[in-house]
Amino acid sequence: MSADSIVHKTDSSVENHAGVRIAPYYDHAGITIYCGDCREILPTLGPVDLVLTDPPYGISYSSGMTGHNRGTSLGGIVGDEDVSLRDFVLNATTPTPYIVFGSWKRPRPLSLRAVLIWEKGDHVGMGDLDFPWKPNTEEIYVGGKGFSGHRDSSVLRINAPVSWNSVGFGRQHPHEKPVTLMAALLCKHPGAIILDPFMGSGTTLAAAKQLGRRAIGIEIEERYCEIAAKRLSQEVFGWEIPQTTKGEPDEGDNLFSTLESA
Ligand SMILES: C[S@@+](CC[C@H](N)C(=O)[O-])C[C@H]1O[C@@H](n2cnc3c(N)ncnc32)[C@H](O)[C@@H]1O
Repeated sequence: MSADSIVHKTDSSVENHAGVRIAPYYDHAGITIYCGDCREILPTLGPVDLVLTDPPYGISYSSGMTGHNRGTSLGGIVGDEDVSLRDFVLNATTPTPYIVFGSWKRPRPLSLRAVLIWEKGDHVGMGDLDFPWKPNTEEIYVGGKGFSGHRDSSVLRINAPVSWNSVGFGRQHPHEKPVTLMAALLCKHPGAIILDPFMGSGTTLAAAKQLGRRAIGIEIEERYCEIAAKRLSQEVFGWEIPQTTKGEPDEGDNLFSTLESA
């Protein structure tokens, strides 16, 4: 899919430091995607209200798992050698509040208010198979002001997308997050404009669209821009009913009612 066939309008184009205009890859109904390096595109953007992103964790991750185009390796993550990309973004957007995913194996951001835990479900977590605990959690770092809403647990239990499911669809990015997780995080900040500078397959943007927020996504790999643009072009989104890792109805009910009331 070419960029021309995806762009619905071009008034969100930006100009980089060399004076070159960068047209959005996708721009429709308040959701804008730029295909490129966020370090180049970020300085060209106006202010945003919240940074919600899942950057490269700095763990040199490489996946042997396949996506829903079975047989196609999802591969590694660009920029995953260290956390410098994350820190570039947090410095460039200070004092904008942020919610940023990461690994306990790498340094956390400096100005933290909270560490949330995403419990991904019992179906994930390979790691060292001789060790009696599986790594099926991730950290989420929260900083800045303006958060509000119901006082919930700092452990979010929402199943991670599977690589391949019974109806022939699965995740299309090795680090794809559930839309319900991103929506649950987004519900805790009323900001109108959301930025995800490491957009991947566009999960943050899909959540923003569902909640009627404006969102800007940046992604360096065109294959993921294409996946995100196709995903966002779909007219109707159904709410994913959250599946809790322990199958406790109250957890799902609480989260679902939070989402509905947003
Ligand atoms: C952890 S993944 C995000 C996955 C996403 N949360 C999802 O649900 O699909 C991080 C993404 O950042 C992208 N990336 C790496 N360096 C980048 C850069 N300098 N500018 C923009 N995107 C970058 C990678 O290609 C990767 O898709």
